[in-house]
Amino acid sequence: MEKIVVSNSGQLKGSVYIDGAKNAALPIIAASLLGTEPIILNNVPKLSDIEVILEVLQSLGAKIEHLDKNSVKIDSSNLNGYEAPRDLMNRMRASFLVMGPLLARFGKTMTYLPGGCAIGKRPIDLHLKGFKALGAEIHEGIDKVEAISKDGLKGDIIYIDFPSVGATQNIIMAATLAEGETIIENAAKEPEIIDLVNFLNKLGANIKGAGTSAIRIKGVEKLYGGEHTIIPDRIEAATFMIASAITNGDIVVENCIANHVMPIIAKLKEVGCKVIINEDKDELRVIGTDKIVGTDIKTLPYPGFPTDAQAQFMALLTIADGQSKVTETVFENRFMHVDELLRMGAIIATDAREARIAGVPKLKGAEVKATDLRAGAALILAGLVAEGKTYISDIYHIDRGYDDIVGKMRSLGAKIDRIND
Ligand code: UD1
Repeated sequence: MEKIVVSNSGQLKGSVYIDGAKNAALPIIAASLLGTEPIILNNVPKLSDIEVILEVLQSLGAKIEHLDKNSVKIDSSNLNGYEAPRDLMNRMRASFLVMGPLLARFGKTMTYLPGGCAIGKRPIDLHLKGFKALGAEIHEGIDKVEAISKDGLKGDIIYIDFPSVGATQNIIMAATLAEGETIIENAAKEPEIIDLVNFLNKLGANIKGAGTSAIRIKGVEKLYGGEHTIIPDRIEAATFMIASAITNGDIVVENCIANHVMPIIAKLKEVGCKVIINEDKDELRVIGTDKIVGTDIKTLPYPGFPTDAQAQFMALLTIADGQSKVTETVFENRFMHVDELLRMGAIIATDAREARIAGVPKLKGAEVKATDLRAGAALILAGLVAEGKTYISDIYHIDRGYDDIVGKMRSLGAKIDRIND
């Protein structure tokens, strides 16, 4: 089994270049099913999750051509189906994002219920509620769901009970070709929503309000081809920012939009780090401190503290001076990394969605498991400052969301390797 082994690495120093955002690329690739003209996407990260969504498109008949490491050409002119295959759906929850575009393009779609990280129930009721409001009939089986719109989709006002990222994206994509105007109220405001909308508008869609909680979509008859560059990954950036903080390092994070990581910047300053923003160059520098001070974080939809950086920040708080509290409000079961951090000598007590952390002066290396993608990143961070060696198993989770994290960490001075154990 492949593992990542990390040793105490001292201060990390240097520059690291951030890849394109996985969570922006996934819906944009799915949205490429909406039109019949070729799409070119740049800054697409090389990740296993991206391979899965591209395979989903291929299974539907789309032609995929890799132009270079991070550019891909998608031709959806000749699709041969509207059913996303079961094995690919099970491998990744985001495969469900093809449902909106397929429904818009064919008036019907059938998909199997999605898999993904085991971080809670992750229902799809809000996606389906949106499709229903647009006039689709929904038939739910035990493990699959079908949506049919016999007379075409029609715009409506849709209030989503929680600003779900995926539901907002799926409804936007379905409404792009619907008749009339759709307004999504209480929409998610994540930068990845804005990137999707920028992409769709380039192809001829008429969508306004992305980044606010009311998104207005005027349906258009067709989309054209076009080229788009995916925004940088704010969670990969956050991970390296925290790597600088936890090692008392000095890291320049290149290709990072400071506005997208404001809660991370604020909290790193709160714990004692210095953050210097260079907006002209889309980069920022995080300078650590020899005394991290405990603080509280609470995950929230954007622009709040991102749930996808919660585990990594918790790793940092385990070595802080004093007490900290982490409250997870987005997912119901996103503390699986706690047991692993406990193995490394952290002191953490959880109660439902709250974790209380008493900082310790040192962590110790241990055999731990990447229980999900961000948990895996958190364990790498903890391993950088633990005494001895930390062996992380189940690293396929990490490959879902980080391209060559080992190489990037090494370039900053980390003692880290992939091994076959
Ligand atoms: C996306 C991100 C994921 C991130 C999450 C929250 C992608 C591919 N993934 O996931 O990395 O952690 O946003 O920022 O972009 N919910 C419902 N019903 C629904 C849909 C969601 O109750 O129909 C709930 C979920 O159970 C969860 C919360 O809403 O508790 C947030 O989920 P959502 O924003 O939809 O996350 P994803 O789009 O799946």
